[in-house]
Amino acid sequence: MSKFIINGGNMLSGEINVKGAKNAALKIIPAALLSKEKITIKNLPDIEDVSLALSLISDLGADVKRSKGQVEICCENINKSELLPEIANKFRASIMFVGPLLARFGEVKFPHPGGCVIGAGGRPIDIFLNSYERLGAEIIEGEKYYQIKAKKLTGCDYFFPLISVTGTESFILTAVLADGVTNLKNCAMEPEIEALAEYLNKQGAKIKGAGTPTITIEGVKELRASDFTIIPDRIETGSFAIMAAAAKSKITINDCNPEHVLILLNIFKMINIPFESGNDFIKILPAKEIKPYNVKTREYPGFPTDLQSPFTLLMTQANGSSLIHETIYDRRLMFTDMLMQMGADIIMCDPHRVVVNGPSKLYGKKLISPDLRAGITLLIAALIANGQTEIDNIYQINRGYENIDDRLRILGADIKCINSLKI
Ligand code: EPU
Repeated sequence: MSKFIINGGNMLSGEINVKGAKNAALKIIPAALLSKEKITIKNLPDIEDVSLALSLISDLGADVKRSKGQVEICCENINKSELLPEIANKFRASIMFVGPLLARFGEVKFPHPGGCVIGAGGRPIDIFLNSYERLGAEIIEGEKYYQIKAKKLTGCDYFFPLISVTGTESFILTAVLADGVTNLKNCAMEPEIEALAEYLNKQGAKIKGAGTPTITIEGVKELRASDFTIIPDRIETGSFAIMAAAAKSKITINDCNPEHVLILLNIFKMINIPFESGNDFIKILPAKEIKPYNVKTREYPGFPTDLQSPFTLLMTQANGSSLIHETIYDRRLMFTDMLMQMGADIIMCDPHRVVVNGPSKLYGKKLISPDLRAGITLLIAALIANGQTEIDNIYQINRGYENIDDRLRILGADIKCINSLKI
């Protein structure tokens, strides 16, 4: 297994470019199944999860031509509608393939999807199953597989029982070719949803309201060829901004959309982290003293759960106590145990809340990356810690952050990757 060895304490400075959004790419790739014509996706991040999604669509019979930062997909000759379990089991977003396959072939077989272990008892898919049923499908649940069948998909009215990002996106992908109109209420509003709708509309879909709680999808007969540039990854943007703030460094984050991380930038103002921003950049400047801040994770435009882990680390460097309340996932604070091993003063109140007492000096340790966002957090912690940190299981970082070690080295980080091809 590959690991990162980081010698902390180096002064970081310079510029870092944000890549295309993982959580947009993972929906736009399966959306290609809805058309028989060629689609081109630009600004594609070179990360494990994207490679898995492309392997999955290739296995279904798609013609996939990948080049640097781009892929062309043609799904004219798809020859099966069963997701290969060895790949689908590895990432949660594999469920995004189900709706488009159902819409195109009237049936689909898939295993329970995998993904980060951030929810107790796994991550449920009841909303997805419910959405296929509401559009007219029948669900057969086997021991290892789900089988979904629909002679015809018909538009419906649906109120999401809870706000779900992929639940909203999956409904859009399943309803786009359905007969009639689908009205969705209590939808998630993440920018990746708006991007997906924009992409589908460019192909001829009729989707209105994406990015608001109410979405209307007027079914169309077919989707045309198109090309699309993936929006910047807002979680990468926020992670880098927090890294710069925690390291009290001057770092410019380019090719990002500051509008998508407004909540974080507003908090930065309140906790005395100086920054400048323009249309597509954020420049973080060294803070003299960071103030503590209580954060509660929320659906967009609230504070993203995906930035909770790095923000918790940032609060270990603040002067005072902060309460971090994770409302979306009940295992996403478990990693704080590792920050404590590094010297952080953190009290776990319950699985959803921790109190962070700062500032703490952090010290290098041997750690294992438990999930993607905790993984990047440990990496940032290692960069500001005294001494050497070893992070094992870096698959759980590379899944979502392209060439992170190379990009951090350019900023001055002392990081190397061992036991991999990059030695
Ligand atoms: N939920 C259900 N039933 C469902 C679906 C979700 O109970 O059928 C629950 C979840 O367990 C969770 C809540 O609903 O408690 C909200 O989860 P949501 O469905 O919004 O999450 P998701 O769509 O599975 C996406 C991102 C996550 C991100 C969340 C929240 C993708 C591929 N994943 O997940 O990203 O944390 O939204 O913003 O878009 C990551 O990138 O590291 C990551 C985990």
